[in-house]
Amino acid sequence: MLEAGIDRDGAPLPTMGAAVNDQNDAEKPTIPEGGDQQPLSKNSQKKLLKQQRYKAKKAEKKALMKEQKKKEAERKRKEWEESLESVTEEERLKLIETRKSLRKERMEKRSGEKEMKKERLMKAKECGQNVIIDLEFSHLMTPTEINSLVQQIMYCYAVNGRCSSPAHLWLTGCNGEMEEQLKRLPGFDKWIIETENKSYIEALQDCKENLVYLTADSENVLEELDLKKFYIIGGLVDRNRWKGITMKKAEEQGIQTAKLPIGNFLKMSSSQVLTVNQVLEILLKFLERKDWKASFFQVIPQRKRCQADLEDNGEEDKAEEENEPKDEQLASKKEKVEVF
Ligand SMILES: C[S@@+](CC[C@H](N)C(=O)[O-])C[C@H]1O[C@@H](n2cnc3c(N)ncnc32)[C@H](O)[C@@H]1O
Repeated sequence: MLEAGIDRDGAPLPTMGAAVNDQNDAEKPTIPEGGDQQPLSKNSQKKLLKQQRYKAKKAEKKALMKEQKKKEAERKRKEWEESLESVTEEERLKLIETRKSLRKERMEKRSGEKEMKKERLMKAKECGQNVIIDLEFSHLMTPTEINSLVQQIMYCYAVNGRCSSPAHLWLTGCNGEMEEQLKRLPGFDKWIIETENKSYIEALQDCKENLVYLTADSENVLEELDLKKFYIIGGLVDRNRWKGITMKKAEEQGIQTAKLPIGNFLKMSSSQVLTVNQVLEILLKFLERKDWKASFFQVIPQRKRCQADLEDNGEEDKAEEENEPKDEQLASKKEKVEVF
């Protein structure tokens, strides 16, 4: 079941606050102290109330998860102690020894994996495919949407790190609320990525001809990935409220555009606009297998595709719905995003 906060497309779900209607207008938000004392308009009050409810719900959920984790640890500890009580002293020592060596093995395996991941990401930094997430749209998103985008970026980093051929990720135009939220992610300062306050057009002004904005509204179909190019994904969670915005931006900047070749391989039941993490995952899968069709079938959720395509591709449909950062998945991803 999906939880509040982020939906299957990574877009924010209506929180309790979204249900604010005339019935509960009577409920007033807490006006932050220190602000000017001018009364808030009805709309601003609704917005503030919505934000406050969202934050409260998030905190409540965090506390619940913490409590569940604590209970689980307690249950395991009890189970362990009970298992020691029912055996002889010799067996007891043996159990303790086995547990210690298993723990050591696990830790060695983990640190080995971390090292390998670090090596892969360093190699990508030197000679891998550059992929930019353009973070210059935060003024067009609600706090909830910004939060969803941050979660998607976290998911992107985790998925990229697990790839055998990762991309080198850039976050450009990283400022304000976006930057603050990203910096709050555990281990963010150790991520092997480029973080730029500047826009990509400024930061990469010497290779403007190699910038390619990926946008579903382009007429150009992406056939191959070119290592020289920097592929840009619009950092936007908007349920396509800002239709065509990335296409317009790229045209105004005079940079190339391209859309994923979705239409060549499958029919979509709705629009071909995907989320940031889905686009990145498709690029990553393509880098690994050089097979668009397989990449689409592994990343694009079933419910977004037409029935004929589903029947066509039973074999390849492995990762159904798994790529989507649902709340619970993201919560556990938080722990899986390795800190070096
Ligand atoms: C949720 S979409 C944002 C949609 C936004 N209204 C726009 O105009 O781009 C996030 C980003 O993923 C990329 N994207 C989504 N679907 C795509 C597709 N079919 N082909 C290429 N890029 C796509 C685009 O870079 C897009 O900005």
